[in-house]
Amino acid sequence: MKEKKKSDIAVLLGYAGNYKGLTFLGLTLSGLSMILGMLPYICIWLVARDLIAVAPDWTKAVGVGRYGWMAFGFALAGIIVYFAALMCTHLSAFRTASNIRKRGMAHLMKAPLGFFDSNASGLLRNRLDGAASETETLLAHNLADIVGSATMFVATIVLMFVFDWRMGAACLLAAVISVVAMFTMMGGKNAKLMQEYQAAQDHMSKAGTEYVRGIPVVKVFQQTVYSFKAFKEAIENYSGKAEKYTVGVCQFPQSVNLTATEGAFIFLVPVAVLIAPRALSAGNFAGFVTDFAFYAVFSAIISTALAKILFAASGMMLASTALGRISQVMNAPTLSVTDHPKEPKDNSIEFKDVSFTYEGADIPAIDHVSFRVEPGQTVALVGPSGGGKTTAASLIPRFWDATDGTVCVGGVDVREADPHVLMDKIAFVFQNNRLFKASILENVRAARPGATREEAQKALSAAQCDDILAKLPNGMDTVIGTEGTYLSGGEQQRVALARAILKDAPIVVLDEATAFADPENEALIQKAFATLTKGRTVIMIAHRLSTVVGADKIIVLDNGHAIEEGTHEELKQKNGMYSRMWADYNKAVKWRISAGEVI
Ligand SMILES: Nc1ncnc2c1ncn2[C@@H]1O[C@H](COP(=O)(O)OP(=O)(O)OP(=O)(O)O)[C@@H](O)[C@H]1O
Ligand SMILES: [Mg+2]
Repeated sequence: MKEKKKSDIAVLLGYAGNYKGLTFLGLTLSGLSMILGMLPYICIWLVARDLIAVAPDWTKAVGVGRYGWMAFGFALAGIIVYFAALMCTHLSAFRTASNIRKRGMAHLMKAPLGFFDSNASGLLRNRLDGAASETETLLAHNLADIVGSATMFVATIVLMFVFDWRMGAACLLAAVISVVAMFTMMGGKNAKLMQEYQAAQDHMSKAGTEYVRGIPVVKVFQQTVYSFKAFKEAIENYSGKAEKYTVGVCQFPQSVNLTATEGAFIFLVPVAVLIAPRALSAGNFAGFVTDFAFYAVFSAIISTALAKILFAASGMMLASTALGRISQVMNAPTLSVTDHPKEPKDNSIEFKDVSFTYEGADIPAIDHVSFRVEPGQTVALVGPSGGGKTTAASLIPRFWDATDGTVCVGGVDVREADPHVLMDKIAFVFQNNRLFKASILENVRAARPGATREEAQKALSAAQCDDILAKLPNGMDTVIGTEGTYLSGGEQQRVALARAILKDAPIVVLDEATAFADPENEALIQKAFATLTKGRTVIMIAHRLSTVVGADKIIVLDNGHAIEEGTHEELKQKNGMYSRMWADYNKAVKWRISAGEVI
């Protein structure tokens, strides 16, 4: 356990960079301040010694006032040095936390975009931010307190044996008992119980979040009891573990620990009673009383030091879990970036025996798929839901990297191209649109920040968004998601298309959304598609087969396999999956026409 803590601090200091030295300075000062803080006690003891020596003629105790001033001076110096120590550790802690944030964000920038699909980027940022702040407390306060208290502890032990080792040993006994009690709580199989207890706490908070998130579904399906069950079980599990740990493990040792730390004095008195007669017969009773006074004062310091170490150690545990979360971010996969990028020669796309398996999945989402899209061609990917269409398309702008095989753009493996060049070449319209909580103008301009307002306006018009702008209170400057301005799915897709049109990239990847199929929106989206795809290389994922009829090539993806490839006419003749899909599609169209819908 100690090993691990050490390495945690080493990891943290690794982030401190040039400020590492400042941390050490702060810690040294903290130790020094504790020693300075102890000196007034010695002065008090000196006062007691002088007074006892001259008793009952107090007028002879001339040096007492001097000790008083010295005590004041040491106390003041202790406070000033402690203040300086905290300045150092705080400065270093803030810098370390900021380095963690910077490095974490820099690392996340290198993660494949697909990574953020399964790990919401806002959540990751919060996690990084929260964890970085938690390490601040450790570096700024806890560590300084641990070093300070440990110095105090060691200095006290040394002092203990300076005057009378027997009384010193009595005080130390309390310390030993409390340390043993502390380790009983934290070590061995109890450490496992402690972990289980923390895991149960974590699980309960996750189940709570899940429960709250699921409330709309619960309401719609009227499943109150069932959905509450998981949360209830998590709470019960937690309370069981909490009881097992606190009552079963901690009750006795914690009572012993507290009694020993608070009552070091208890051990001192019997020892003093045993020693007193001998001191009396040796004629050194005054010396004995002085020593007793010293130990009575110092036994209090031991308790303070121990309590501080215990408290600071709990901060260490917190920081340790925070570091765990930080390393999760730092260990996120990164995309390899080549040092010698190759320039794509044209706007063709080629899949060469490409396979891709999502992390944790058993079967590949894309399985040995090969096809080629010539520059300026439109190729459609069709097939049943879950067939792998979106996955295949995401490999082109390197949302993920292929597990096997190569994806080429312009004859160059996408892994060997400069990521910026690649991104500039491809406009991607997602299946589920990603619009920011920003104005429509900003959303569209995200594709090309340098674009003028007029250019954005033109792109919006080309994407058939005029009717959307007309009904918004501030037109293009309306912020989406505020003041009740929410866009429908179809409207969002048109704004996303405007963004892609403004980008004016030579390659377009379109992942058509199925859910927004109202005929009016559909017609507008088709028009926007037409503007966007003119004269470009297009990979189009289409759910409505009417869109793909004119494609240069259609690829049918089923269970990750490219099972058919050809033009609409060719595939229709084949009597395979496409011809069945086409027949189903026409049946559906007929139904809709007979139901009086305009297509
Ligand atoms: N982020 C992900 N992590 C793990 N598995 C995923 C992820 N995204 C998709 N999959 C899985 O990969 C397979 C292919 O999914 P994909 O989204 O490519 O299908 P699709 O053909 O686009 O389907 P749809 O027509 O419904 O959009 C599915 O089995 C899906 O469950
Ligand atoms: Mg899809």
